[in-house]
Amino acid sequence: MIVTDLRLRNFRNYEQVQVHFSPGINMITGRNAQGKTNLLESLVYLSLTRSFRISNDSALIRNDCEFARAGCTVQEAGREFQLDAIIHNKGKTLSVNRGTVRRTSEFVGKLNTVLFSPDDLGIFLDAPRERRRLLDQEITKVSSGYLFALQNYRSLLKDRNALLKQHSRDDSYMAILEERMIEQSETVISGRRAFIERINRYLPDTYRSLSEEPSEVKLVYQSCIPIDNDIKSSMKIMYDMSREKDYEFRTTNNGIHREDIIFTMNGENVISCASQGQKRMILLAFKLAILHYIEEVSHKTAVLLLDDVLSELDHNRQQKLMRMIQKPYQCIITGTELPDFLKQEAITEFRIEHGNVIQGGNT
Ligand SMILES: Nc1ncnc2c1ncn2[C@@H]1O[C@H](COP(=O)(O)OP(=O)(O)OP(=O)(O)O)[C@@H](O)[C@H]1O
Ligand SMILES: [Mg+2]
Repeated sequence: MIVTDLRLRNFRNYEQVQVHFSPGINMITGRNAQGKTNLLESLVYLSLTRSFRISNDSALIRNDCEFARAGCTVQEAGREFQLDAIIHNKGKTLSVNRGTVRRTSEFVGKLNTVLFSPDDLGIFLDAPRERRRLLDQEITKVSSGYLFALQNYRSLLKDRNALLKQHSRDDSYMAILEERMIEQSETVISGRRAFIERINRYLPDTYRSLSEEPSEVKLVYQSCIPIDNDIKSSMKIMYDMSREKDYEFRTTNNGIHREDIIFTMNGENVISCASQGQKRMILLAFKLAILHYIEEVSHKTAVLLLDDVLSELDHNRQQKLMRMIQKPYQCIITGTELPDFLKQEAITEFRIEHGNVIQGGNT
C-alpha cells in the first residue's frame, strides 16, 4: 500500500497543498515549526480519523477558517482509491471514492499507517488508558470487527455502571448485560492476545538488530483473565467474583477496559531498567514489529511515518534503521536536515517552509 498524493486545504498551517509521494523513501526537511509534523498528522488522520496529538478536531482547522479538508490517493494491489475527510464545526464528513460513509469503521483501515513520534516515548509512563488506546488503535487498523466489539462493549459498560448506581438491584438485566459484555470481550481479548503474540515474534529480534544489544525485549499482556484460559468461562468467573464489589463501588472494576500492556527487558518492566536511548529503540522496534503484524494479518503493507527520528540516533543506528525499512515499505520521514548518508540514496526529498511544500529539496 502506498500513498501517491496528499491534498490539504486549511489543515493546520497549510492553506492549500498537494504532495506527490514516491513509493520508496520520502524525506521531508524543514526548520522547526514549518509544518512537518502537521503533514504526518494529516496522514494519520486519514488512517484513523483522529489526530495523534489532540482529541479535539477543531485545532486541525487552520486559524480563522471554517473547515479543513484532507484527502489522499492510495494505491493498493493495482487498485487506486481516494479518501477524503472534511473537518467542520459540526464534526467530520468522511468519504471513500467520493461516496460519503456513515460509520468510521468503513473508513478506518483503508489507509494503514504506522507512526513513530518522539511524543510516543511517554507511553511507558502514561496511564494504562494510553497504552490501551495504542493497542486498540493498532488492532483496529486490521480488524473492523474488533472496533465494532469495542464500541459495543463501551456502551454495555455504560449501561452496567448505570445499573450499579441504581438503588434497587435487577439481577436478570445484570445477567443479560454481563452475557453481552462477555461476547464482546471475547472478540477484544482474542484480538489483543493475537496482536501481542505476533508482535513478540518480531520485537525481540528487531530490537537486537537495531540496538546491537543482546537484551530480550518483549510485550506482556496484563489481562483481566488468566492468559491461557478459555475467555468465556474465565470472564464469567470474573464477573461472579467482582459483582458484589462492583455494587459496593457502583462501578465495573474488572474487564477489558482495565487491561494493560507492559514492555519488558530481560523480564523486567522497562520503566525501571531501560535508559532513554533504549526506550527510544524499544519503541522503534515495536513500530517496526507493528508493520510486520499489519502485513501478516491484512496482507497489505502499511506506510511508515517517522517523525523526527533520525536526529536522536547515532550514525550507525540511523543506517541500520534505513536498511530495515527499505522496500517493500513506503516511508515518510521528517527531520530538520537531510542526513549525509542519505544524500547518495535514491530518495524523494521535500522541503517545507511555512506550510509550503517544495519537491526536490533545498531551495
Ligand atoms: N490550526 C492551526 N492554524 C494555523 N497554524 C497552525 C495551526 N495549528 C498549528 N499551526 C502552526 O503549525 C506550526 C507547527 O507545525 P509542526 O508542528 O508541523 O512543526 P514542525 O515542522 O514539525 O516543527 P518541529 O521541527 O519543531 O517539530 C506552528 O507554527 C503552529 O503555529
Ligand atoms: Mg515536528
